Amino acid sequence: MIKILVCLGTRPEAIKMSKIISELKAKKIFDVKVLSSGQHKEMVSDALRELKIKVDYDLKIMKIGQTLFGITADILNKSEAVIREFLPDIVLVHGDTSTAFALSLAAFYSKITVAHVEAGLRSHDIYNPYPEEFNRAAIARIAKYHFAPTESAKENLVREGIDEENIFVTGNTVIDVLVDNIDEKYRNPNLPMGDFILLTAHRRESIPDGLSALFRAVARIAREFPKVEIVYPIHKNELIRKLAGEILFGMENVKIIEPLLPHDFHNFLYRCKFVITDSGGIQEESAYLGKPALVVRKCTERKELLSYSSIKLVGTGENDVFSEAKKLLENDEEYRKMSISTKLLGEGDASRKIASELSKLLKK
Ligand code: UD1
Ligand code: UDP
Repeated sequence: MIKILVCLGTRPEAIKMSKIISELKAKKIFDVKVLSSGQHKEMVSDALRELKIKVDYDLKIMKIGQTLFGITADILNKSEAVIREFLPDIVLVHGDTSTAFALSLAAFYSKITVAHVEAGLRSHDIYNPYPEEFNRAAIARIAKYHFAPTESAKENLVREGIDEENIFVTGNTVIDVLVDNIDEKYRNPNLPMGDFILLTAHRRESIPDGLSALFRAVARIAREFPKVEIVYPIHKNELIRKLAGEILFGMENVKIIEPLLPHDFHNFLYRCKFVITDSGGIQEESAYLGKPALVVRKCTERKELLSYSSIKLVGTGENDVFSEAKKLLENDEEYRKMSISTKLLGEGDASRKIASELSKLLKK
């Protein structure tokens, strides 16, 4: 058996690794163990329960108000014993979180091969998003195998000197889960009857100024369009909850709710009028669905989506967010122009492709 340690720790990693785990297990040539850093607590355990993924090793590192120093140091310290016990042939990490970075480093220190899922995304601005742009570039330096979602992600890696033979273009695994979850018969008492905007926000570099500006823009949208509901499944981060509470408290058509499970979130996304977000994964999902998405960031590492889909980068200024949202609510032509879906990220078979490549690469 080939021993593979699949690493995750945050909500998007749980979602985006879930089908790779089941595909690998189905192959019967792998001894698959799942390691969660526990960088997220409830947000990961809830998602994993729904996705039916069992964690074998939980480092349980999450602290309220955790810092990048704490996350990285705790994961490095606590992963050593797991790696010594399991002695994996290969460590699989995802994307650009501090979990992925610290566990790649731990594997490197143990001279264990690393494979990187969602490799090659680049904004080319080391502070945006922060610290993710650094994390993913550092992981690329450590990893041997690179699963790039798109051709342009592959080109980024080739430009950095990665051997083309070790790069595999697979699509994005988030689409695999999304496709499974969309349900025409979905019902939920919290789903608004009329038009609603879905909102999510969490980026570190936007706390506090970017998020305050975003929430002021949301308050203006809510006042100017009282018939439109804004549904905001809020991140567990207490700094974000405090900022949102200060600016949005008491607004009748702004519904701040607990984070949604992936199945619920995907069905809310499918039904909303448009989404306002700073998330990476939600850009991908919106692009696939052709759901207009206003991306509240200075730059994006998913640049190819801007030209071919429903994604618009609007920056982090209050007026920009407000005026772009107003346009989508008032101007049908603008709305129609943004409702373009793309298959650039695959059609739901990325996890299967990654598991097949790994079995070919690692068969002894
Ligand atoms: C992390 C990742 C980011 C990813 C995001 C996905 C890093 C540095 N950041 O950012 O790349 O886009 O996850 O959501 O890797 N909290 C809870 N319960 C939870 C989860 C979080 O209480 O289940 C609170 C804790 O107080 C924690 C804070 O949220 O300290 C921030 O979590 P953290 O993982 O540091 O940052 P994210 O913004 O979630
Ligand atoms: N998501 C979810 N519930 C929510 C909000 C988001 O399940 O309340 C899912 C979403 O569908 C996507 C992923 O979480 O698959 C995105 O995670 P997040 O925005 O936290 O991180 P990022 O993608 O920016 O790293």
